[in-house]
Amino acid sequence: MMRRKRNGSVCMKPLSDKTAGFTDSVIRRMTRVSNQYGAINLSQGFPDFDPPKEITDKLSELAHIGPHQYATTWGSQTIREALARKQKHFSGMDVDPNQEIVVTCGGTEAMMAAMLTVCNPGDKVVVFSPFYENYGADAILSGAEPIYVPLVPPAFSFDPNVLEDAFRQPGVKALILCNPSNPSGKVFTREELTIIADLAKKYDLYVITDEVYEHILYKPHEHVYMATLPGMRERTIICSSLSKTYSITGWRIGYVIASPDITERVKKVHDFLTIGAAAPLMEAVVVGLNFGDEYYEELQQHYTHMKELFCKGLRNIGLSFVEPQGAYYVMVDISEFGYGNDYDFAVDLARKVGVGSVPGSSFFKEDVHDYVRFHFAKKDETLKAALDRLAEIRNKMK
Ligand SMILES: Cc1ncc(COP(=O)(O)O)c(C=O)c1O
Repeated sequence: MMRRKRNGSVCMKPLSDKTAGFTDSVIRRMTRVSNQYGAINLSQGFPDFDPPKEITDKLSELAHIGPHQYATTWGSQTIREALARKQKHFSGMDVDPNQEIVVTCGGTEAMMAAMLTVCNPGDKVVVFSPFYENYGADAILSGAEPIYVPLVPPAFSFDPNVLEDAFRQPGVKALILCNPSNPSGKVFTREELTIIADLAKKYDLYVITDEVYEHILYKPHEHVYMATLPGMRERTIICSSLSKTYSITGWRIGYVIASPDITERVKKVHDFLTIGAAAPLMEAVVVGLNFGDEYYEELQQHYTHMKELFCKGLRNIGLSFVEPQGAYYVMVDISEFGYGNDYDFAVDLARKVGVGSVPGSSFFKEDVHDYVRFHFAKKDETLKAALDRLAEIRNKMK
């Protein structure tokens, strides 16, 4: 007779050890919490405004004529050529569209494919903390052990000696570099990147970059592509995405750019993971990849406007926060509320104040519970409504 658990389900062999320790994504959980309490959701980072009309018009045209079947597994020729042109334009890099690009299902898959390409079980990867939470899962799935190097608030600076100590550990294979950075909003300077690059070369490490926010920057901060620093082209694996640049997080289009030897491997991993990104979506977004400089200038202006609106509002309420240099998140200091537990604070904020956020501890390896993260890629009316609610924070949260 079959044995049953107390809840009635059949007792079977245990599921994988690898995934047993996974918690659900706190970011996505906070979206559910926001929905549960009818809160304005400033937790999960996606815009509530539309993608450029030229791109959606192209998609509706393609709906009638295709392509509707599998594209080349590493991305259609047209999208790879458009990506190579865009990368040349913004970074000066010569990228071979046939040998150095793999189009993936979002930056998320790009990162996973890069990690599976680089790491053997037992290898170590260095990650700056606070970090985007997917990196922890990427490390587990690829069998790698993460080693964390703190980015110390409020400037989110790192100590090169601490970084070197991490690089020196046996079995270290790669660094994951999120630039511009989620959740801190840090944009690494050329000088900082040069320190990292020199150490990566000294210890013969790969640098896996996550550059999904490469076009979301606040002046005077500028994006420097790690791969363009001397000697870094062959050891950098660029992971990026069109999700944020064209406000199409649901389209799931990202890419890897790396030297041919690495790309050859990424192609195989990607083929077995997903076969390929959605064929009509890849074609439609080529319109966006061919936009001129005005598009990116307007994008920066739009994000600067949203950042200023939201940060000014937070300042008026008297909340302290770290001004972001790039990406679209702001870390707000909640220590004055005396909660001690930022997760409880974030749930209460959704329930009592009606604004969704992400508890900062889900991004830190260190024991930091003093922050929540808000994102501000939202329409003015959404941000103003959230600020109106936050104006009540001291009455409702104490
Ligand atoms: C740093 C970072 N990398 C990757 C992603 C996911 O990108 P994609 O939608 O392309 O999978 C996000 C989404 O918020 C992110 O913040």
